[in-house]
Amino acid sequence: METNGNEGGHRFSQKSIAQLDEIITHYPERRAAMLPALWIAQREYDGYLPPEALQEVADRLERPLSEVQAVASFYTMYNFRKRGRHHLEVCTCLSCAVRGAYEVMHKLEKELGISAGEVTVDGEFSIAEVECLDFCGAATVVQVGDQYFGNVTAENVDMLLDQLRNSDSHTPVELADALVKIMTPGGSEAAPA
Ligand code: FES
Repeated sequence: METNGNEGGHRFSQKSIAQLDEIITHYPERRAAMLPALWIAQREYDGYLPPEALQEVADRLERPLSEVQAVASFYTMYNFRKRGRHHLEVCTCLSCAVRGAYEVMHKLEKELGISAGEVTVDGEFSIAEVECLDFCGAATVVQVGDQYFGNVTAENVDMLLDQLRNSDSHTPVELADALVKIMTPGGSEAAPA
């Protein structure tokens, strides 16, 4: 059984604690590691930041909870509500809009039985409308976790859904994990699981 040294309901694994400790060494003070710490928390708390995740970040960085809440709520990349196992972010900015982004969005809503901002009852999918993903040449673009899917249309979006249904991924967790690994080059693999 994994020992995580967690007191007070904390959920960070030993690996996460080691990663956070390493990240902190790159900054002059602990509080400067707030954004990476929030990504670690988002990974450890199933892809979103419930109140106890924010409290754990506050405790580990020795900062007031209100400060962590203020920082986390400033950025749209942190989730305060549970997402689907596959969180589909559909770009509806200009290039994607003229290439049918809203048709893609409406097809997704119809196929999944939810509206943008909602999660399917089985927790498998959620949809969000997002600003430009900086991949305009491949409009319409859909981001799922750390992957971009380009040239998505209302006609081929079923294939994307089938591909995702058949994958074991938990995309919000994997996105957070990918970003944490970038912030801890070399250190993350060396740390205990
Ligand atoms: S407009 Fe959609 S990626 Fe830029």
